[in-house]
Amino acid sequence: MRPTSRIGLSVLAAVLTMGSTVALAQLPFMRNMHTGPVVMPQVDTRAPVDDTIAVDGVRLRDRIESQNLPNPVPNTSESRATGAQMYDVYCAVCHGASGQGDGQIAEHFARMPNLALPYVQDYTDGWIYAIIREGGRSMPPFAHSMSVTERWSLVHYVKTFEVASTQ
Ligand code: HEC
Repeated sequence: MRPTSRIGLSVLAAVLTMGSTVALAQLPFMRNMHTGPVVMPQVDTRAPVDDTIAVDGVRLRDRIESQNLPNPVPNTSESRATGAQMYDVYCAVCHGASGQGDGQIAEHFARMPNLALPYVQDYTDGWIYAIIREGGRSMPPFAHSMSVTERWSLVHYVKTFEVASTQ
């Protein structure tokens, strides 16, 4: 090898070494993605800054503010049928075909609530409505998947679940 190309190589090696050392050193002004804050699945998302609203958003009431909202949809066989249709499409995969917490992907969650249990059945309509609209820790929100009427109808349907007998 000619001496000049040997010098060239060692300069190249030095530059590469420096580069990786700097990358590892993470100087404070450097923001690499792998050092940024990470939200892992099934843990709390980061809370938005207090009192902020999406520029084009309406202020959504949370569960506590929604819990006493009256269900504006009459509880009829038609509205329950609409609710059942929504449930089969959006909820059964997790909570199970009859709400027992045994949907196809339930085992991948730390906890999959049985919606037939008394503590859920005792929730007010407004509380369940808010859960459907906003989701929870691991449960996705359905604000954009259903109309307001469909969501309230789904609440009527959720209230029909009964604990399956064990025999
Ligand atoms: C991807 C899985 C998944 C889907 C889909 C889903 N949920 Fe959930 N749901 C959960 C999990 C997990 C929880 C427990 C709280 C949490 O971690 O979010 C929960 C909690 C609930 C609760 C509160 C139960 C409690 O213990 O307080 C209700 C009510 C509920 N879901 C209803 C529904 C309805 C109705 C739908 C359909 C629109 C639905 N969920 C769709 C996963 C799901």
